[in-house]
Amino acid sequence: MFGRARRLAAEGVLGLNKRNRDYILRFNPRSRYPLVDDKLLSKQLAIQAGIAVPPLYGVIRTQHDIRLLPDMVRDHPQFVLKPAHGSAGDGIVVIAGRSGARYRTISGVLLDFEQLSHHISNAINGQFSLGGVQDVVIVEYMVQFLPVFESLSYQGVPDVRIIVFRGYPVMAMVRLPTRASGGKANLHQGAVGAGIDLATGVTLDGVLGTEVITHHPDTMNPIAGVQVPQWDTILEIAARCYELSGLGYIGVDIVLDRQYGPLVLELNARPGLAIQVANRQGLLRRLQICEERADFNAHYKERVAFSKREFKHPVKGCCQS
Ligand SMILES: Nc1ncnc2c1ncn2[C@@H]1O[C@H](COP(=O)(O)OP(=O)(O)O)[C@@H](O)[C@H]1O
Ligand SMILES: [Mg+2]
Repeated sequence: MFGRARRLAAEGVLGLNKRNRDYILRFNPRSRYPLVDDKLLSKQLAIQAGIAVPPLYGVIRTQHDIRLLPDMVRDHPQFVLKPAHGSAGDGIVVIAGRSGARYRTISGVLLDFEQLSHHISNAINGQFSLGGVQDVVIVEYMVQFLPVFESLSYQGVPDVRIIVFRGYPVMAMVRLPTRASGGKANLHQGAVGAGIDLATGVTLDGVLGTEVITHHPDTMNPIAGVQVPQWDTILEIAARCYELSGLGYIGVDIVLDRQYGPLVLELNARPGLAIQVANRQGLLRRLQICEERADFNAHYKERVAFSKREFKHPVKGCCQS
């Protein structure tokens, strides 16, 4: 099942320095960062723009507010706690049910109110926020994933990450939770990343750490060949996040909910580069194609059509070094 990650064609790979200098610094105005670094603010922006997000149950802003949690979630046996300034899945707790007075996390750990309060208290104190600054905790709807992903995730919701360059989707992957990632779809937590053919929305092989894998490590099901539902809608939502954020180089995280359809989870102003490994493709060439040929004033539907046409995944074997 495991094989060594194939080396990417050197000229096509976007490295960290180049990403920072030529894309993030050039196309992401500093003044717009707070809009995406604060998940509560991005949520509000998305709602204003008519883009669906997981419904908000409440916000815990102070230590004193923690006692309000049981009331906030009285009618919601399932919910998610999320530090507004967190990243890489840190500090997120997914509560999948109750057992008497205790809360059951998606990985099956039982927490009493005191333990949960302790966690929220740490989050408010900045334990999970960038720079350790004081934070607030979002309490929101727990996304219910579609049956199509059942064979490909272990306890948790897969999310689709799309890199959007000046309004053009350029590369996508789906991140699949594993036993190790504790119900979260972050690669740093041990989730699997699988590339997606931008033209069709069909998954390619996966990557776990730096290893190419063909099967999910927990469910043992093949990763490639799965059609992500509502692919065009997902691409359109991602493209529209450009206007919403004013940021020229972003990673848009989208989940597919059984009831609500595609929902935006968050926007990232410094999206990681592992998506290239998951796709066995460098980002650089795709970014250059946009710079050479794209019309940056085009409507989002035209932008999506361009991306689907230009960034079709090559036939297996043609792009490996
Ligand atoms: N409302 C939710 N319902 C279910 N799972 C969620 C929810 N919000 C986040 N998650 C899980 O946690 C992961 C990280 O969440 P995200 O909002 O992207 O924050 P981060 O900035 O830490 O990556 C998601 O990829 C998803 O797997
Ligand atoms: Mg994320």
